[in-house]
Amino acid sequence: MDTDAWGSDTADTGTAGAAVSESWLTEADYEAPPEVDLRIDRAHSARVYDYLLGGKTNFPADREVGDRVLAELPGVRADAAAARAVMHRMVRRLAEVHGVRQFLDVGTGIPTTPNLHEIVQAVDPACRVVYVDNDPIVLAHSRALLTSTPEGRTAYVQGDLREPERFLADPGVAATLDLREPVALTLVNIVHFLSDEVAHPPVRKLLDALPAGSFLALTAATADLAPERAEVADRRYAEAGISLHFRSRERFERFFAGLELDEPGVVLVDRWHPEPAEAAAAGEGKVGLYGGVGRKE
Ligand SMILES: C[S@@+](CC[C@H](N)C(=O)[O-])C[C@H]1O[C@@H](n2cnc3c(N)ncnc32)[C@H](O)[C@@H]1O
Repeated sequence: MDTDAWGSDTADTGTAGAAVSESWLTEADYEAPPEVDLRIDRAHSARVYDYLLGGKTNFPADREVGDRVLAELPGVRADAAAARAVMHRMVRRLAEVHGVRQFLDVGTGIPTTPNLHEIVQAVDPACRVVYVDNDPIVLAHSRALLTSTPEGRTAYVQGDLREPERFLADPGVAATLDLREPVALTLVNIVHFLSDEVAHPPVRKLLDALPAGSFLALTAATADLAPERAEVADRRYAEAGISLHFRSRERFERFFAGLELDEPGVVLVDRWHPEPAEAAAAGEGKVGLYGGVGRKE
């Protein structure tokens, strides 16, 4: 791997960080509150994903997993970019076409420009966004998520998808979102870290807490497209203690039970409203992630 190339491309990928330099970051670069334990000795999904996206908010344990996956599946870097890009398209369409002005983003990840609020506030500066993640490193970088327009508002809440009641009760949620008005719940590239048994109840609870006219925007990994590639990723992540849960289309679609699916339904993410500029390469169904957006009636 060419670390110089990785080191110099941070500005291009736009990964926001407390400190961006030509060298890898160390624990000392973070302004985490003292009670925050970054646990840099073990890989974490947010930081492996950041590494695959070309960011620098990651540590040796994260890069080791990333390098092992990349050695066998060089296309994973493009897949990570596609996984991030569909979030942009989903939230832009939610704001532009469906008129959504409030977003609850669980599993936000390490800030990477543009962040969700930057996309939707470009549509309407009054948009409001609550970000939730359980990785302390995201908390340590959360300043980059709090750059709201004056007309809108953003908040960062340290929380776990498995405990929705806890983070919904955070004062940052009530100060930012009006839960009597529609909210888009965005779960982008997170539920594949959880089994069906663990993921469904909190997703249902969150949707129950939102009024009619709210949306679920969801993406998650599938082995349907390339089982052998999924198996490699599964093995390499598992070696680092990160469980992946690949879902068939049918299992993925279960999250949308009772919701009305937006066009074009559940598809591989590069087929979900590809940008015209991307259309030549995109839309080919090459990315092993399903995506969909559903509306609560
Ligand atoms: C692959 S990243 C996706 C980031 C972002 N949503 C995107 O698609 O660009 C997955 C994120 O989910 C977070 N995450 C994983 N399990 C979680 C949980 N149970 N509760 C909250 N966040 C979680 C990780 O810390 C990580 O930041």
